[in-house]
Amino acid sequence: MEKIPYDEILDIQRKVDIVDVISEYLHLEQKGKNYFAICPFHDDHNPSMSISKEKQIYTCFVCGASGNVFNFVMNYEHISFAEAVLKVAQKAGIGLSVKNISKTIVKESKYDKFYKMFEIANKYYQNNIKTVYGKAASDYLNKRGITPAEIKEFEIGLSLNDNNVNKLLKSKGFDESDIVDIGLCGKKDNFIYDTFRNRIMFPLHDSTGNVIGFSGRIYNGEDDSKYVNSKESVIFKKGKLLYNYKRAINYAKEEKQIIVVEGFMDVIRLSTIGIKNVVATMGTAITKDHADLLRRLSKNIILCFDGDKAGQKATLAAIEVLEKIDITPKIIRLEEDLDPDDYVIKKGKEAFLNHLKNPMSLLQFKIDIEKKKTDFNDYNDISNYVNNIAGELEKINDKVVYELTVKKISKETGLDVETINSLISNIPKKERKIITKPKSIKKNKYEKAEEYLIYYMLKKEDVILLYQNKVSYLTNKKLAMIAIKILEFYEQKHYINVTDFSLFLQDEDELIKEVLRIDGLNMPDEVDDKVIEEYIKTIDEGILKREIEKTKNKISMEQDTIKKVILLEKLATLKKKECK
Ligand code: UTP
Ligand code: MN
Repeated sequence: MEKIPYDEILDIQRKVDIVDVISEYLHLEQKGKNYFAICPFHDDHNPSMSISKEKQIYTCFVCGASGNVFNFVMNYEHISFAEAVLKVAQKAGIGLSVKNISKTIVKESKYDKFYKMFEIANKYYQNNIKTVYGKAASDYLNKRGITPAEIKEFEIGLSLNDNNVNKLLKSKGFDESDIVDIGLCGKKDNFIYDTFRNRIMFPLHDSTGNVIGFSGRIYNGEDDSKYVNSKESVIFKKGKLLYNYKRAINYAKEEKQIIVVEGFMDVIRLSTIGIKNVVATMGTAITKDHADLLRRLSKNIILCFDGDKAGQKATLAAIEVLEKIDITPKIIRLEEDLDPDDYVIKKGKEAFLNHLKNPMSLLQFKIDIEKKKTDFNDYNDISNYVNNIAGELEKINDKVVYELTVKKISKETGLDVETINSLISNIPKKERKIITKPKSIKKNKYEKAEEYLIYYMLKKEDVILLYQNKVSYLTNKKLAMIAIKILEFYEQKHYINVTDFSLFLQDEDELIKEVLRIDGLNMPDEVDDKVIEEYIKTIDEGILKREIEKTKNKISMEQDTIKKVILLEKLATLKKKECK
């Protein structure tokens, strides 16, 4: 692939702010000059990624992931560097300068054709609901209080009892096998037919906004299944998808919280009362992937599943998955077995907002469940009750909360506070995984000198010139490559700074990581030429030492006497140099 002109990249980079771009993907917290986020590139539990507004660089101090705004988008979305540049430019509304870049993206993402097919189908379905054929469906939605505004916002559509999606896609040149593979159509005995018929269509988007599947709901007449979902495909995995994720990103950021419900209608209903930081699990159990997606939105997660027994079970299962990644969600339980949709209809907006303002703590939720099972006149029941909640009490970190809770339980059960306490201390403390910084391998003085030299080359032009004039080469291959790139950059641009240099490296991720690691070393900003000369001397010594080792090795292997003598002479000269 052709390289994108550096000046184009620089221009785009200067017009955007890495903090804005990353905050579209991750929840950021400002601390002093920097912003912090849960690192999406490793199994992070505490915010380990820092984003520097000043340098326009992100770095994770645990896994070492680092780079500029384009590297972030590239790595996060698993797209090419050129695509990332284009994406960032589009986000920033920079239209003109990207023309050249679009041309360089010769290779389309291999899933592009699938996204296009879904998009075409989506438009078709959305149009249907506006026609005369869509009257019954839109009446149905209106009766449920879903207005044209929601139909538009959630891109709700309608599939008809025809084979038009198949025809439409074929007429646009898509392969029949692709159409079937992604589940828009099925095939039986050489007859190809549309999968979705006579259903109200909800498009499902991935986290970047591509339509990757549909769910269709019956609205007239009966059918075995209320909803039919697209079959899983290379781009659609139910366990990795949360409904409404893309739309909820910014709302979750504003509200600093994300609400998780079960169904489409719950999301849409809450939207009608102005609550838009909501995603739905689509009736499946929360997976680790879901949990990771949620954590990207906010650490403040509120589970608001259906009020029935199944909803309670789903809540407990979700808690288990979330606790594994150190998230303690809050819980809303709705009365009368209602789901959020029915609850808002039946009890009104205020009643729901009241729940939202006072969600239950996880502890309260678990104690409540146990309490409901307990007959407080039965000693065995009380024993079970206290033993069952002991594990939850054990998790309380706050002394005050702990004492108040135990006192309350003591009152309920008639047990001494001491007795309850004694049960708690019997339970071993849960072991917590602690991720520490990977231990850096001890470097010898020669390796250190090379690193320090690069450190100052990234900051000072005169050090680059010193390198050019006085250093023959660096023994560390990665550092040698970086040095060459620095010279190249400097020859073209006549200045140096880390951020711009990282743009120059484009998609050379490993080099960028190394550059930023070195840039992050704790070294004084100002440096005397003498210190640099000292580094260069050490580097030369290192090179000499290596030469000597190599020559010694060769001598021990050499069979030919004459050649051996020549090598011995070489060794003598090298050793003489070493003594100087
Ligand atoms: P619900 O049965 O609670 O549906 O299933 P709902 O969202 O309340 O829908 P309405 O109010 O009856 O219209 C919750 C979610 O589980 C998935 C859907 O994503 C649904 O929104 N589901 C449910 C299916 O995938 N298939 C089904 O047959 C039923
Ligand atoms: Mn419902």
